[in-house]
Amino acid sequence: MKCKKLVAVLLSCLFLVVMAGCGNSGEKPAADGAKKAGGKKIGVAMPTQSSQRWIQDGKNMKEKLEKLGYTVDLQYAEDDVQAQVSQLENMITGGANCLVVAAIDSNALVNVLAQAKSNNIPVIAYDRLLMDTDSVSYYATFDNKGVGVAIGKYIETKMGLKEGKGPYNIEFFAGSPDDNNAHFLNAGVFEVLKPYLDKGQLVCVSGQTKFDTICTLRWSQEVAQKRMEDILSGYYSTGKNLDIVVSPFDGISYGVAAALEGAGYKVGQKWPLITGQDAELMASKNIMSGKQSMTIFKDTRVLADKCVKMVQAVLEGGQPEINDTTSYNNKKKMVPSYLCTPVPVDKENIQKELIDSGYYKKTDLQ
Ligand code: GAL
Repeated sequence: MKCKKLVAVLLSCLFLVVMAGCGNSGEKPAADGAKKAGGKKIGVAMPTQSSQRWIQDGKNMKEKLEKLGYTVDLQYAEDDVQAQVSQLENMITGGANCLVVAAIDSNALVNVLAQAKSNNIPVIAYDRLLMDTDSVSYYATFDNKGVGVAIGKYIETKMGLKEGKGPYNIEFFAGSPDDNNAHFLNAGVFEVLKPYLDKGQLVCVSGQTKFDTICTLRWSQEVAQKRMEDILSGYYSTGKNLDIVVSPFDGISYGVAAALEGAGYKVGQKWPLITGQDAELMASKNIMSGKQSMTIFKDTRVLADKCVKMVQAVLEGGQPEINDTTSYNNKKKMVPSYLCTPVPVDKENIQKELIDSGYYKKTDLQ
């Protein structure tokens, strides 16, 4: 009798266990994800709101993470390195479970990231590599050297350099020296254009081609405008025409264009070919009007998707998508990365890339 009772009790326990299992497996994956994410906090540290792209990056990250059930602390440090350090410290003491960081100065976060590591908080580098630290798990970015190569190739094609055309006068701008991306991009530009400088088809009248002389601290529009003004008055005031300006960022292109206008250059009349990067709205309008020739479209929606997958991987387990394990050595480790593909955009393909893809509305560009 006792034995029968025991069997009955065991059977009903087994039934309950099986039913509980069935209940779980019936849940949709998204709901399960949200349940896992529930209560976990993600600190997202962005560099500045002074350029449109970072506003979009922050917004995309916040929306996508919240949709999965995470709580998001999104902070902008307005290009103030110390402010970004404090924001990260606050995120750590505030109980963040994961940090996503787009650094202002990629070398300045070593100590605060060590603090994150000692608190077992995983860190993901967003668009800009975090240097000199072993506290970073993954890196989501675009092919930064590829951006430079695309800029170089655009100039090569448009100016008929392969066909031997020239000589053309060219000036170079690079990005911020404390941003690893700036160095990669510049290497790509020179890989394509250096042979034409050597052959004399491209002439840098100012002679400023070294990274240290062409870099632009904090990618600043104002700094770029001032440097362009100085070059124009110093080297082009005696009738030489500037034909090409290599700009690595739309903000820098605006500064370059303002300096050219100030020196009497007019769009459509010997106005130089000006490059850019980020497909900002203003740059896209300038492409339509001829003030800027091209930009590099880096779809921030795709970047945010890849980064969110990395967050999920470090917090919930599993492997994120990685497509590069050899390019991004931050001097402490080779950081596993996902490189999104940059797309050069000019008047010819702006409709397809920026409007048809839903990035902008046609009316935005009018
Ligand atoms: C870089 C990034 C560029 C541009 C620049 C200025 O790190 O690669 O796309 O956004 O910052 O914000």
